[in-house]
Amino acid sequence: MAGPGLFLGIETSCDETAAAVVADGSLVRSSQVASSAALQSRYGGVVPELAARQHVRALPLVVAATLEESGVAPADLTAVAVTQGPGLLGSLLLGLTAAKALALAWDKPLVAVNHLEAHLFANAVVSPVVHPSLALLVSGGHTGLFWWADPRHLELLGETRDDAAGEAFDKGARLLGLGYPGGPALERLAAAAVPPWPPLPVAWMPGTLDFSFSGLKSALQRALPERAAAGEEERAGWAAALQAAVAAQLTDRLSRAWERRPVRHVYAAGGVLANRYLRRELDAWAARRGVAMHVPPVGLCTDNAVMVAAAAAAHWPSGQVGLDAAPRTPWPVAASTDAW
Ligand code: KG4
Ligand code: ZN
Repeated sequence: MAGPGLFLGIETSCDETAAAVVADGSLVRSSQVASSAALQSRYGGVVPELAARQHVRALPLVVAATLEESGVAPADLTAVAVTQGPGLLGSLLLGLTAAKALALAWDKPLVAVNHLEAHLFANAVVSPVVHPSLALLVSGGHTGLFWWADPRHLELLGETRDDAAGEAFDKGARLLGLGYPGGPALERLAAAAVPPWPPLPVAWMPGTLDFSFSGLKSALQRALPERAAAGEEERAGWAAALQAAVAAQLTDRLSRAWERRPVRHVYAAGGVLANRYLRRELDAWAARRGVAMHVPPVGLCTDNAVMVAAAAAAHWPSGQVGLDAAPRTPWPVAASTDAW
């Protein structure tokens, strides 16, 4: 059977400008990512207007580079796929407008993709996704656990009640005097930690699979003022404690979901899972249960367009939108279920 074809993916929901060509939802022909993180770091976080302006500059170059790298001519494409949401409104608008212009100029269908779902589909380019399975999304803006019934259906089992795990990393990093982006800097600092480190509280949330990460920031805030002159070693300990507390919550929710629904495959994704400590903890959790834990390579955990093209292919031929499509943010990826 012929696959769904060749998709050009475009991703601009935050501060990465990305384009990729993927064949049949699984074969990466090319992938380009330009990040304005270095520029944003001067301001300690993402400045939405700055991100949008960078997308205007970078997107034409990134699209041209990915087409050249793939050797694919626009005429060969099946469709142009783009992140419609959720994300920063101005950034989404730029990607969507560019995708519309390309679809119109090349006379190709336009496919709209949910960014959160797309993160999970990064796994599809590594190996075919097995259903039903559990899916764990750990990104900068969202943390959620899903029942992945089939390629087109995710059910929400639990989500964060306050901060996403990525926010906990970014806010924790700021409190520890690290720059933006906080996650990678915090991981580097934690690598120097010498055990034992002080524990940070874990929100166990009995009776629900929801998450809560805002307590980590408050606990760090309380702990740090008395230690204004905290040395490198002590700060490293707090960084390691934060990683451990996030990992404990993720694996606890996975355990409770898995006890009710003992699937063979778990798919995890999202920028926070670029973190090697978290990857190791998830692997260890799965190994103890004989479960296959799938986490995409680091470059496909953080924002990219491969995942956008892969998600579009999984839905094809549905997902097509007209030239009147507008950004969708917020845009929940799945309805919640009480059936866990
Ligand atoms: O998925 P993503 O690229 O963007 C969103 O869709 O939100 O995730 C970005 C988040 C940021 O909070 C960033 O600090 C975090 O992922 N992150 C990390 C690491 N690399 C990126 N967190 C912990 N350790 C890392 N190495
Ligand atoms: Zn993302």
